[in-house]
Amino acid sequence: METATPVVLPSDVDHRTPKHVAIIMDGNGRWAKQRSLPRTAGHREGVKSVRAAVEESVRRGVQILTLFAFSSENWRRPRSEVNILMELFMSALRNEVRRLHENQVRLRVIGERGAFPEKLQHRIAEAEALTAENGRLNLQVAANYGGRWDIMQAARRLAAEARAGRLDPDRIDEALFADYLSFPDLLEPDFFIRTGGEQRLSNFVLWQSAYAELYFTDTLWPDFDEAAYGLALDDYARRQRRFGRTGDQVETETMSPLSLYARG
Ligand code: IPE
Ligand code: IPE
Ligand code: MG
Repeated sequence: METATPVVLPSDVDHRTPKHVAIIMDGNGRWAKQRSLPRTAGHREGVKSVRAAVEESVRRGVQILTLFAFSSENWRRPRSEVNILMELFMSALRNEVRRLHENQVRLRVIGERGAFPEKLQHRIAEAEALTAENGRLNLQVAANYGGRWDIMQAARRLAAEARAGRLDPDRIDEALFADYLSFPDLLEPDFFIRTGGEQRLSNFVLWQSAYAELYFTDTLWPDFDEAAYGLALDDYARRQRRFGRTGDQVETETMSPLSLYARG
């Protein structure tokens, strides 16, 4: 007897595939060290994993992918490493943007970009403008980004609105506050992955990940290929998101738990 192909209902796909995946791409330095290579060789190799994550996200129907490329704390690294990371960012923009555009990927950079060299800021703006109308995948690269910085800049802008008399502080609620964060128009991350073995958030999207499912893997970022990402997505698919409710409530609920919490 032939085995029937399991039927995947659209509603299953909906809740089993995260709409928004956020990844801390960690472990490049250790990958290089294991091979007696300079740390920067690990960063170069890591670009391949970025490509793999983008392509697999498109294949699996992930709508938003947010990648942590450079934290507000990474300026503390040796000047030479910071310089190479900036150059790599420049060359990745130069080499990858056309391909992203062809694949209908919209690129956005989140973080305090004013600290970057002018040329890099210019190239970022060009890439964002070129891909602005694309709708297949929203790719956000977090560069000079910090979760606390994000919350702080929102608070500062809200305070300025209040001072100018345009906003009554009593009107500030979670939804309004979130409108001032870095990606107000996109859903919050459902799935938060960190490669490289550390189990910490390192100041990545803090407010927006309040209810994200966490996934930590020892795999170093340059080794995190389509298959490794696929395993992570499969792990997500087996989880039950409760958002404060009981498991029984979720099982009998017809609406996807995502739609109860997610904004946008
Ligand atoms: C992540 O890899 C890349 C950046 C922070 C830019 P690391 O460079 O932190 O690699 P490890 O943690 O030292 O192995
Ligand atoms: C977090 O990794 C930042 C990025 C991956 C861009 P780090 O390697 O800088 O984090 P810590 O310092 O070990 O927490
Ligand atoms: Mg690290």
